[in-house]
Amino acid sequence: MSVRFDYRNAGLREHEVAYVRPLAEAALCAIEDRCGPGHEMLGWLDLPRNYDKEEFARIQAAAKRIQEQSEVLVAIGIGGSYLGARAGLEFVKGPFGNQLREKGVEVYFAGSNLSSDYLEDILHIIGDRDFSVNVISKSGTTTEPAVAFRLFKEKLETKYGKEGAKSRIYATTDKAKGALRGLAEAEGYETFVVPDDIGGRFSCLSAVGLLPMAAGGMDIEQVMQGCLSACSAYKNPSFLQNDAMLYAAMRYLMLMKGKQVEILASYEPALTMFGEWYKQLMAESEGKDGKGLFPVSANFTTDLHSIGQFIQDGSRILFETVLWVEETRHELTVPHDPANVDGLEFAAGLSIQEINEKAMKGTLLAHVDGGTPNLVVTLDQLSDYTLGELVYFFWKSLAISGYMIGVNPFDQPGVEAYKKNMFALLGKPGYEDAKSALEARLQK
Ligand code: PA5
Repeated sequence: MSVRFDYRNAGLREHEVAYVRPLAEAALCAIEDRCGPGHEMLGWLDLPRNYDKEEFARIQAAAKRIQEQSEVLVAIGIGGSYLGARAGLEFVKGPFGNQLREKGVEVYFAGSNLSSDYLEDILHIIGDRDFSVNVISKSGTTTEPAVAFRLFKEKLETKYGKEGAKSRIYATTDKAKGALRGLAEAEGYETFVVPDDIGGRFSCLSAVGLLPMAAGGMDIEQVMQGCLSACSAYKNPSFLQNDAMLYAAMRYLMLMKGKQVEILASYEPALTMFGEWYKQLMAESEGKDGKGLFPVSANFTTDLHSIGQFIQDGSRILFETVLWVEETRHELTVPHDPANVDGLEFAAGLSIQEINEKAMKGTLLAHVDGGTPNLVVTLDQLSDYTLGELVYFFWKSLAISGYMIGVNPFDQPGVEAYKKNMFALLGKPGYEDAKSALEARLQK
């Protein structure tokens, strides 16, 4: 496997690990037998085997057309309809992928906030250049993407006319119902499907994430190959040979031992958005019924100069999962400078990756000594293939740990609360009573 898991620095005793083993094995069985809570949302489980090949070919053709017609793709979506594509593009192309323009079009993400400045900045970046839009929303009524889509649709229609705009809009939505499905059919946009049995945070390797990834120049065949290898490996019922099961068991033990926060710490800025994706996956899946670990992400060594103090020495509520990438895309070494004014000559000639590795190892030991246990996930490299493997590793592991703590990891009832209040305050029809009650509370 190009993804490997190590729990030697978790500070656990053998009998503790032995104790959770049957629980983890039972959780894996419930997933594979599709008999646990939310089992109807397990469409991701065999996705790399069962995905719609005809649609996959259309995604590749659409990505090619976007690349031929446009310099920029605006991908519009929020939550599960946004995070995976952005995480994947930055994982493979790095944080400066849009500027480097090695392959594919520039991809900008809109519809994941309600900031006028953010939207205006994207319009400014596009300027007079040709662009296309991929609007992604299962329901079609989520406010943030709906607002952004109106804006970019209007811009497309002004620039290319109604007919021209149609050939540049791609809608990824429910196969049959919802506002966006209706609009796409009425207008004649090319459409892709958000599968019924796959929730938002498990959807990035369906059309939801694959179209922006492919348009941005990623090799989505390789992504699916990586995902397939993980899909086979993490079916293994043998506890000690299944890294997804082991990671789930370790997270469960951390929770049992009073840890409340998991920090996903990486040493590559290309993984910053992957950390955002991980936070949604973990928080929406486990944070319910008064339970769950609170997921946080950090980028080291940057954040060692901010939250590092707390991790070393603050409340002992934390553990870390370190995401370490063995091979970098480029190798740079520290130049020699005989004057040695900065005192760095001892490191001259070392590769920056060697220094990063020493920082990772030194930090791990320091944090463990300070009472923050460490789990380590090692990746060979940041590639299309390893992305597929890593995404599936987290999906499977999270599903197992969700069952171990006794929640339905596949629903997200808590996400609706803010939406109801916002609709009421905006005066959406049907929310009149809630509106007056909320306004009275705000005036107190
Ligand atoms: O994981 C989820 O279900 C959510 O994050 C949704 O993906 C998000 O709310 C967007 O929903 P929709 O695709 O219906 O616009």
